Amino acid sequence: MSETSAEHTGQDGWIACLTYKSLATAPPSEPELSTLVSKARTRNRMLNVTGMLIYERGAFLQTLEGPKDKLDTLWTSIKQDRRHEHIEILTEHIAPARLFSDWDLLLHSRNDNAAPVPKAASVAPPAIDAHIRKLRELALNADDVRINAFFASLQDEGWTSDAVVTLLIEPTARALGDAWLADECSEFDLTIGLSMMQLAGHAVRRHTSGSAIRNTQYKILLAVAPGEQHMLGTSILADQMTDAGWRVDMAFPDSDEALFNQLRAEHPDVVDIGLSDAMARPQALPRLRTTIDHSRLAASDHPTVISVGGRLFAEAAATAASVGADYARLTAAGASIRMAELVGMSRATKTANRQPGG
Ligand SMILES: Cc1cc2nc3c(=O)[nH]c(=O)nc-3n(C[C@H](O)[C@H](O)[C@H](O)COP(=O)(O)O)c2cc1C
Repeated sequence: MSETSAEHTGQDGWIACLTYKSLATAPPSEPELSTLVSKARTRNRMLNVTGMLIYERGAFLQTLEGPKDKLDTLWTSIKQDRRHEHIEILTEHIAPARLFSDWDLLLHSRNDNAAPVPKAASVAPPAIDAHIRKLRELALNADDVRINAFFASLQDEGWTSDAVVTLLIEPTARALGDAWLADECSEFDLTIGLSMMQLAGHAVRRHTSGSAIRNTQYKILLAVAPGEQHMLGTSILADQMTDAGWRVDMAFPDSDEALFNQLRAEHPDVVDIGLSDAMARPQALPRLRTTIDHSRLAASDHPTVISVGGRLFAEAAATAASVGADYARLTAAGASIRMAELVGMSRATKTANRQPGG
């Protein structure tokens, strides 16, 4: 493995991940495969490494995840192992969460000679199988927005993050491995799909654990200022907010009225109104100020934080106060954290105002 900075694997919880494929030097018999896996499990458990191993028709596909130094040690052993050859790393990266949190090494084998192994997906009720199939398609289409929205809706229905990870994310990761082995997708699709499942798993866990700011799932309406054509900044923000576990809706209103109607209908916690990132047009500011004043009235029954963005703000030529907004995002980075704080504060103010005498 190449060197990656140590701070990413330590106390902050980030872990190293490696996915590779290889060919068996000789097809393992059933007892050989189970010996390999049971020894691997013992060692992985000691090293705090989790992962999956898929074996089918002479090919291995393995994902390993854990502290970087431990993974390096393990990898040194695995790549020297004479039982396989033509080893090719598919991805090697640092991630905020494990994909296989509960498995020291999950074996998924379709070796004709191998003993049947427990397969979570095969005992899953049909409804869950349908979810896995849907997720597999979304992951192969690299549709992270829908994946996150889907998990968010399940969590709204009461699914716990453990259930989402164990019953859906892990089986979907295996289904992606199967799709690759069956030549139904490319390596590129497989690795993108696995990364997506990993990020989604992270968002799901953050949704139900962690700080007060992160454990409430907020909703943001990302709007371009009425009539604006350019929305690059807004779509970058959409990805960012989705990754951060927010529910994201988009609006491309052609008039103020259209925007107000959407605000009244959706009650977002934040509405972000974006001016063009391509052009700096100071004359657009008074108009934006009017839109924001009226948006506050339209959203008056729900505490809604109003944020703005666009080149004028990124270059700090204009401030949030100059247009009557609560927040101006200079860049998309960190915006979700600041917005969540503002939502928390605005809710607290609203509650205080509701108290008798408040
Ligand atoms: C395809 C394949 C996957 C393997 N995966 C693991 C694993 O996840 N964990 C593990 O400890 N050993 C795994 N092994 C076995 C290691 O290569 C190695 O034999 C074992 O870790 C003992 O290491 P040592 O020979 O350096 O003592 C795997 C072997 C093969 C062929």
